[in-house]
Amino acid sequence: MSVKRNVVKDFDEWTGTYTKDMERFVPHYKKLLNSVVDYLPEDFKPRNILELGCGNGNSTAILINQFPDSAYTLLDASAEMLKVCKKRFSDYSIHYIEQYMQDASFETDAFDLIVATLSIHHLNSQEKKELFINLPVWLIKNGIFMYTDLMIDHQNKVLHDPFMKRWETFARSNETTDEEWEWLSDHHYAYDKTDDANEQMKWLRSTNLFVDKPWSVEDWTCLRAINK
Ligand SMILES: C[S@@+](CC[C@H](N)C(=O)[O-])C[C@H]1O[C@@H](n2cnc3c(N)ncnc32)[C@H](O)[C@@H]1O
Repeated sequence: MSVKRNVVKDFDEWTGTYTKDMERFVPHYKKLLNSVVDYLPEDFKPRNILELGCGNGNSTAILINQFPDSAYTLLDASAEMLKVCKKRFSDYSIHYIEQYMQDASFETDAFDLIVATLSIHHLNSQEKKELFINLPVWLIKNGIFMYTDLMIDHQNKVLHDPFMKRWETFARSNETTDEEWEWLSDHHYAYDKTDDANEQMKWLRSTNLFVDKPWSVEDWTCLRAINK
């Protein structure tokens, strides 16, 4: 089975306890989710919103609360995660796409807002660059990409090893068991292709987006890219 399919299998099997686990495993999880609305201009009223790697819809719920009248497109490669979203947002008319981000294709000017929380780290550096090239095409003028994730060069052992120690300390402080930490670190080493924030800002800027970093604590980072 390919890495792509394996990562999705992990998420397919994780829907039951996903939110509770993420709160225990991921530092600042709620803050990371809220970043999809926290750093938007006050008068920003997106009509069309795309979420890349929506999972079980935790950031979608925050968006819907703030922008109940927007049109939503939720993309995720996990059929089971999308099933949870369909049930959770059954009162809303939402366009669901079961697809890998690497294969996504949209019309020019399709979205006012594109968001991704904790999902793009599953793409390797080249795949990220290829995705970023599409953003100014898919976004309307002055449209915004809010991108929140773990951003650290996973191949830089000098930085990554101490990060793993800090992460383990956090997870264990929330009663993460040995078995859970083993699963989480195995998942991370197998499927998380995290890249440095400054590198990714460069890649985003090379597509002519205006990019800044409104929030970050250690390697947990929110980037905002505007299609000026
Ligand atoms: C850690 S979860 C994040 C979900 C949600 N955005 C959140 O913040 O809780 C990552 C999600 O990305 C999806 N995913 C992973 N790789 C993907 C890919 N290449 N294309 C599309 N979705 C992917 C997984 O199925 C999973 O639902």
